[in-house]
Amino acid sequence: MVCCQYFSPFDGGANAFTVEMPRVTFGRGALHEVGARALARGMRRAALFTDTVLADSSHVACALTSLRAAGIDAAMFSDVRIEPTDTSVLAAAAFLQEGGFDGVISVGGGSVMDTAKGALVYSRYPAEFETYFAPPIGGGVPVPGPLGPHLACPTTSGTGSEVTGLSVIRFEALEVKFVLASRHILPDEAIVDPACIDTLPPTVVASTGFDLLSHALECYTARAYTRWAKVDEIGARPMIQGANPWSDLHAREALRIVNAYLPRGLADAADHEARDGLSWAATLAGMAFGNSGTHLPHALSYAVSQMARDFRPRDYPGSGTFVPHGLSVIVTSPSVFRYTARETPERHLEAALCLGADARDAVPDDAGEVVAARVIELMREVGAPNGLGGVGLSTRDADALADSAIRQRRAIANAPRETGVDEIRDIFQQAVSYW
Ligand SMILES: [Fe+2]
Repeated sequence: MVCCQYFSPFDGGANAFTVEMPRVTFGRGALHEVGARALARGMRRAALFTDTVLADSSHVACALTSLRAAGIDAAMFSDVRIEPTDTSVLAAAAFLQEGGFDGVISVGGGSVMDTAKGALVYSRYPAEFETYFAPPIGGGVPVPGPLGPHLACPTTSGTGSEVTGLSVIRFEALEVKFVLASRHILPDEAIVDPACIDTLPPTVVASTGFDLLSHALECYTARAYTRWAKVDEIGARPMIQGANPWSDLHAREALRIVNAYLPRGLADAADHEARDGLSWAATLAGMAFGNSGTHLPHALSYAVSQMARDFRPRDYPGSGTFVPHGLSVIVTSPSVFRYTARETPERHLEAALCLGADARDAVPDDAGEVVAARVIELMREVGAPNGLGGVGLSTRDADALADSAIRQRRAIANAPRETGVDEIRDIFQQAVSYW
């Protein structure tokens, strides 16, 4: 598969990309290593971040036992809310400031790891909350410097947060999520133990699986890094830097694994081959989007989760009404890729082939439909909501959704097409129902 011509030099465009990665340990039983790894990082007193559902789980017990066996004093912070907010992150930062810790262990899904990242920033470099976020809502100030050591241990197979310098936090006053991006919030180590997802209900595996699927699809179809402006000094190179050969490598493999294992991983929790595969794919997709950035499905998802307030996900632990992140992403994906494929059809066809689409006879004009059809097929196979209508939204909501989504400026600019509020409204209108 030829990819490099996608990155051919562009006048005034970036001439290089940078890969940022933590040390990664992957495998069943890896969580037992957390104590020795924390000790090797110089930790003596660690804050263990988790959520209320996981606080009594065998995973957290395993991490605590490992830490104590290494002689590390650990205090638990479990007051993490699903979809962390400025308020919940600042409460976590206060816990760090008062506790005299020399490191953080996070054991949980994206909300837990993202809370730990945010808490490390605001405990070390206190500031008005919007300071470190990008304009138009933020001050655009870089996180000033390194934070304490952070070992991230995911318990779901989707977020990829364990290998990214990104943290998604909801601003309560604006009722919408924004992304904090800095290489300083990249965890020092990712400890990925697929045994942690053995106990996940199928609905969570489905939602997180769609999250990872979309991470990979978005990375592969993102604007090429050479189409972003060249930077004058190394600190100015953003983490959301566009598609590049590194993100391609991981996105392609993640898509192949989703194709092979997503329905299988849902159907049978004892299918370790499938669930281990999804766990690995989530980390791979994280390695991809942490170094390229996502684009429209994620940019639009924050408006979906903001407005679909009456959706109650089935079999979701510890939750009320909300749209799980992976579902908020996937409900617009077919509509998005029908739109973006017109700019870079070959990339879309390559991604669709990795995802198992029958695209042997497809021509470039078919690309959007080929990607959309394969995603819709997977959505139906695993019981995802049927577009925006499936989470309680309609064409009448398209204006408000577009007005909210347009604030996600960087992610929108990472799409392969120039996209304004009118195009986003059209994408929402075409995302109401797919079958
Ligand atoms: Fe995501």
